[in-house]
This record gives sequence, C-alpha cells and structure tokens, in this order.
Amino acid sequence: MSGPPVIDPATYRHVLGHFLTGVTVITAIDPDTQAPTGLAASSFTSVSMDPPLVSFCAARTSTTWPRLRAAGHYCVNILGDGHAELSRRFASKQERKFDGLAWRSGASRAPVLEEAIAWIDCALHGELDAGDHVIALGRVLELGAREGASPLAYYRGGYGRLAP
Ligand SMILES: Cc1cc2nc3c(=O)[nH]c(=O)nc-3n(C[C@H](O)[C@H](O)[C@H](O)COP(=O)(O)O)c2cc1C
Repeated sequence: MSGPPVIDPATYRHVLGHFLTGVTVITAIDPDTQAPTGLAASSFTSVSMDPPLVSFCAARTSTTWPRLRAAGHYCVNILGDGHAELSRRFASKQERKFDGLAWRSGASRAPVLEEAIAWIDCALHGELDAGDHVIALGRVLELGAREGASPLAYYRGGYGRLAP
C-alpha cells in the first residue's frame, strides 16, 4: 500500500500563497519578564460564535509562541493598510518589538495596539497538534473595531491593500 503523496515544500508554499489573507499581530505579557511580546500571524481565523472561538497557527519553531502560551491570554491585533512595516517588525526576531508603539492593556492584560483596526482579546482555550504547527484556539473575552479603516492584505509573500 502506498502512503500519501509527497508534496514539494516550494510548490506547497507557492500554491498556498495564492490564498489572500489579512495580517495580525498577536500579543501578550510574558509572565517571566512582564514585558510585552508578540508575533505577526496571517493564519488567524474566526471559528465559532457559540462559544466565541478564534484560532491561529503557531510554528513549533517560534520562540514567541511559548511565551503567549505561558501567559494563557493573548490579543489578536488586526493590521491596517499602512502597517507593512509593523508586520515586518513583529515577524522579526528582534527583542524590542514594542519600542515607540502605543498600546494599552486589554481585559486579559494583553497589549491592544492603538494602531490596530480591530482587536480580539482571548484566553487560550485549547491547543491542537498540527504537524510543524500547533492550532491555538482562543476564547474571546473582549473585542472592538475602528470603523472606516482598511486592512493590510498579504498575498504571494507581499503586502497590498484593497482597491477602493
Ligand atoms: C505576513 C506574515 C504572516 C505570518 N504568519 C505566521 C503564522 O500564522 N504563524 C506563525 O507561527 N508565524 C507566522 N509568521 C512568522 C512569525 O511572525 C515570525 O517569523 C516569528 O514568530 C518570529 O520568530 P519568533 O516567534 O521566534 O520570535 C508570519 C510572518 C509574516 C511576515
């Protein structure tokens, strides 16, 4: 019996890159250092209304994910169309990702970025094994949106905006 087909990683990346997404920055307060931490994630999606659940996928290699996990709470900040640089910053390994950034504490204490066009504050609800990633499920605690703002788009490895 033959196993599942082997998919070439470059082809996988190329084809899946055709799925247009937004970009989020997922933030928490690191319980060890009490410092804000976060990473850029395009794998965010809504999951359930009752109960209110959202998800994102975290790479097992991420050094930020274990800190979000330890915090037990995180905030999903949805980026606007001027935020490509912010996305790059939170996709980097630099330590001082919050320098010069305005934020406040959400219901869970996780940082809500003032520039975000929408934010969803969550408690970690569960974690599913998913190959080289884990699927993190968050229970929504509080959420809000800035009306009239337009989102940052991510497509085939590049940033863009919605045409008016
Ligand atoms: C547009 C964009 C989307 C990304 N989406 C994800 C994601 O959904 N999940 C993930 O684990 N990393 C994602 N990354 C990568 C992380 O933001 C980042 O590279 C990594 O977390 C930084 O490493 P660290 O967690 O070790 O600090 C994305 C990067 C970019 C630029």
